[in-house]
Amino acid sequence: MKISVILAHPYKKSFNYAIYETVLRNLQINGIEVMAHDLYFEKFNPLLKGKELLNGETSDSLVIQHRKEIKKADGIIIIHPNWWGQPPAILKGWIDRVLRSGVAYEFEEGDDGSGIPKGLLKAKTVLIFNTSNTHEEREINVFEDPLERIWRYCVFDFCGIKNFHRKMFSVVASSTFEERKQWLKEVKMIVADHFF
Ligand SMILES: Cc1cc2nc3c(=O)[nH]c(=O)nc-3n(C[C@H](O)[C@H](O)[C@H](O)COP(=O)(O)O)c2cc1C
Repeated sequence: MKISVILAHPYKKSFNYAIYETVLRNLQINGIEVMAHDLYFEKFNPLLKGKELLNGETSDSLVIQHRKEIKKADGIIIIHPNWWGQPPAILKGWIDRVLRSGVAYEFEEGDDGSGIPKGLLKAKTVLIFNTSNTHEEREINVFEDPLERIWRYCVFDFCGIKNFHRKMFSVVASSTFEERKQWLKEVKMIVADHFF
């Protein structure tokens, strides 16, 4: 089994980075082949420019590698903080450039792009781990949980992946060391429930 793991966080001492390390360690000790990417560390270029917009063609070798890997992944895990109710810009650019038509989805012949696309990804399961500083009730009632809409419906349902699980850890700013230790145990359990 091959799992793609994508991290979008600029700081190695962050809780997001601890989630990333926990995920990688647990996949690896269970003999799973991991395709891991720390987008900031590898300086992923998020800008979709020029002709790439028209036909998806690019000479950016990292984007080409990401597209190849996401196509062959049996599972996908994405880790990022809530920034303005959205993924950090580097990860938004990863969606734009990697999950392209012909890679992650395609429209039937004759469809002008307004129809329901066919998903092309092999992965059956997606896990999203998020962190934030907002209490769950406020996130849902005031902000309408934008990350759930983005990832579940706009991105992965569009690409045909129905087995979707997202976990938000919050409030990070006031969390204790013990709480964060417990959260990392939850990360381990969620990964195990979905992949082992
Ligand atoms: C640019 C920026 C925007 C943010 N926007 C939000 C937000 O909309 N909602 C929220 O709850 N927290 C927001 N935060 C707080 C982060 O979600 C929080 O610091 C992070 O999840 C903590 O995890 P970390 O220690 O791994 O960075 C924002 C932080 C930054 C830097």
